[in-house]
Order: sequence, then C-alpha cells, then structure tokens
Amino acid sequence: MNVNNMTLCDIIKNIPGSIKILKSNNINAYINLRKTLNEILVIDDIAKYSDMIDKLNNLSRDNKELLKFCDIPHQELIKYIIANFHIKHRDQLNQAIELAKRVETIHYDHPQCPIGLSECLEGIANDLYSHMEKEEQILFPMINQGIYPDGPIFVMEQEHDDHIQALSELMTLVNYLEVHEDACQSWKKLYLLLDQFESDILTHIALENNILFKH
Ligand SMILES: [Fe+2]
Ligand SMILES: [Fe+2]
Repeated sequence: MNVNNMTLCDIIKNIPGSIKILKSNNINAYINLRKTLNEILVIDDIAKYSDMIDKLNNLSRDNKELLKFCDIPHQELIKYIIANFHIKHRDQLNQAIELAKRVETIHYDHPQCPIGLSECLEGIANDLYSHMEKEEQILFPMINQGIYPDGPIFVMEQEHDDHIQALSELMTLVNYLEVHEDACQSWKKLYLLLDQFESDILTHIALENNILFKH
C-alpha cells in the first residue's frame, strides 16, 4: 500500500523509523493520527514532499527492523521482544518517572516545565505494564504452542492503538521534545530517554502487529 493512503497512525505503527522521517520533514504525526498523508499534504505540497514519500515507501517495502525477524521462529522472537522491549520499557519508564519528578520539582516555575509529566508517565507505565503482563502470561505462551487466538490478538492490537494515543498526549505535554536553551542535564536526559522510548515502543508494536501476531 502506498503510504499516501495510510493514516499517520498506521504509518508510525507499521513502519519502524517512519516517525524520524516525518519529524525531519516537520510533519507532526500525533496531531493527525486519524488523517492520511494525502489529507494533510495539500495538493501543492505533494511535489514538495515527494522525497519524503519515496523514503517512506522504500522503508515500508524494505524495512530492516522487520525483515530481519521474518524468518526466525516465533519462540525466538518472543524471547527477543521480552528482552529488548518489555524489560527495556520498564526500565525506561521507571527512570523517566524519576527524572520527570525531579524536573517538575526543581523547575516548577519555568514556563516550559512539563507540569503533570510524572503523572502522565505513571499512567502510561500502568497501562503498558498490564499489557505486557497479559502478553507474557497469556498470549505468548499460546503462540509458543503454535496457537494464534483471534480474540486476545485483537485486544492486544487495540491496546497498541491506545498506547499510541497515550504517546500522542505525552508528546503534546513535552512540546514534542523540544529542548529549550537553559534546560538542565536532568531535563535533557529525560527528553533523550523519551525520544528513545518513543522509537522503541513504535518498533515493538510494529514487530508484534506485523510479524509475531501473524502466522
Ligand atoms: Fe509486547
Ligand atoms: Fe504488545
């Protein structure tokens, strides 16, 4: 499918790396999650964005992040996902919550201080931890036995969309990770961590939706 006809949500959750390409072209996927690229690029702009569209189409056809997992057994892929995403997300969010509390306490009077960030991250952590627990305890053991249950897979895919919606609220709160000049080390470290978390969770979702949940 041509990326032009995909919604921004479908692009970022199915094509690992696409968020970076969109950002470098000043396209904010989060405020247009339900719109297609065609809908957000007015006719005049299509030509201006042809390089970006080519890059996204190439990445969609030939995505190393996904292709390298196409031929490995799902039992191996599950181990990889737990080690490289589930454990990592728990660590990233715990660290981010601590840093956010520090930034909110020290810089509460700064006009760009992301007030409410630690609470927002705690909400994301609660939802994501419960989602990952369901995968680890119910769905992954079934897939390990060669069973791909439609109902639980559908629920997990719905929850992936909820994670993207939560990511959108998070990115609005942190002003799309724009670091202002006088940000302290903790603030910079926090935004770098959230940038990595964003890229990791989108790759994680893409791997599950497009490879692990298909048989
Ligand atoms: Fe997962
Ligand atoms: Fe998942």
